[in-house]
Amino acid sequence: MRRPDWAPETIDIERPSAARMYDYYLGGSHNFAVDRAAAQAMISVVPESPLIAQANRAFLRRAVRFLVEAGVRQFLDIGSGIPTVGNVHEIAQGLAPESTVVYVDIDPVAVAHSRQILRGNHQAAAVQEDIRRPGRILDHPDVLKLIDFNQPVALMVVGVMHFVPDEDGPAELLDTLRAPLVPGSYLVLSAASGEGRPEQERSDAAEIYRRAGTPLAQRGRAAIAGFFDGYDLVEPGVVWVPEWRPDSPGSGEGAEGAIYIGGVGRLR
Ligand SMILES: C[S@@+](CC[C@H](N)C(=O)[O-])C[C@H]1O[C@@H](n2cnc3c(N)ncnc32)[C@H](O)[C@@H]1O
Repeated sequence: MRRPDWAPETIDIERPSAARMYDYYLGGSHNFAVDRAAAQAMISVVPESPLIAQANRAFLRRAVRFLVEAGVRQFLDIGSGIPTVGNVHEIAQGLAPESTVVYVDIDPVAVAHSRQILRGNHQAAAVQEDIRRPGRILDHPDVLKLIDFNQPVALMVVGVMHFVPDEDGPAELLDTLRAPLVPGSYLVLSAASGEGRPEQERSDAAEIYRRAGTPLAQRGRAAIAGFFDGYDLVEPGVVWVPEWRPDSPGSGEGAEGAIYIGGVGRLR
């Protein structure tokens, strides 16, 4: 199979990636046959997977708008994904041009494509790093250049923690990322949950992602809410993502099928 220009030499295009599967759910074009096959397998287990991804992405966009309105001008977006419609820098810099954004992702395609669309944007950068090595993220030269830790920061961990199993110490790594933040900073976090889903569906989904090399940690609402330790939750708290400050009244209804649970917390 021919390797397209946007695919770095280092990636294995015969193995699905969670980032490229998510790109496919969102209707993007940075995915290969192997990703589409894995995503289709997932769609046969959970037919509404594309809608679930769109709802999570819409939550992210609403949260960024909320944060800009709250005065935040710095965004550290970890597990940022392959760029899609309404990226963090587009929303934040569209509303407040001085905003700075650092995207961090483990996936080489996500980072390469982010760098491509950020060309000429001196207030945004993309870094390839693993959230399980938070110290390396905080010490990265691009993070130190664009993020002033004396000012509030929006730490965004949207749709990622279900790729961090308990044995990798998710609470500890979030503590490390919170440590340099000043009060008035925010955490935006959502994660795919297993809450209320049939056992068979959970195990089929787990198998699909295990084969992609990214095993799923499907947590319930209480565990996801626990990731906000140290933060005061912004209303309405930790909810199905469509219920988080929907754009129009009623548009968050029927949200319990959303799989993603998330919220926004303010550092006290
Ligand atoms: C479901 S997508 C979420 C993308 C975006 N944050 C959003 O919510 O629309 C998950 C992203 O997390 C990234 N990811 C998975 N494990 C990671 C890790 N250990 N460190 C950093 N990024 C990771 C994947 O590569 C993928 O781009």
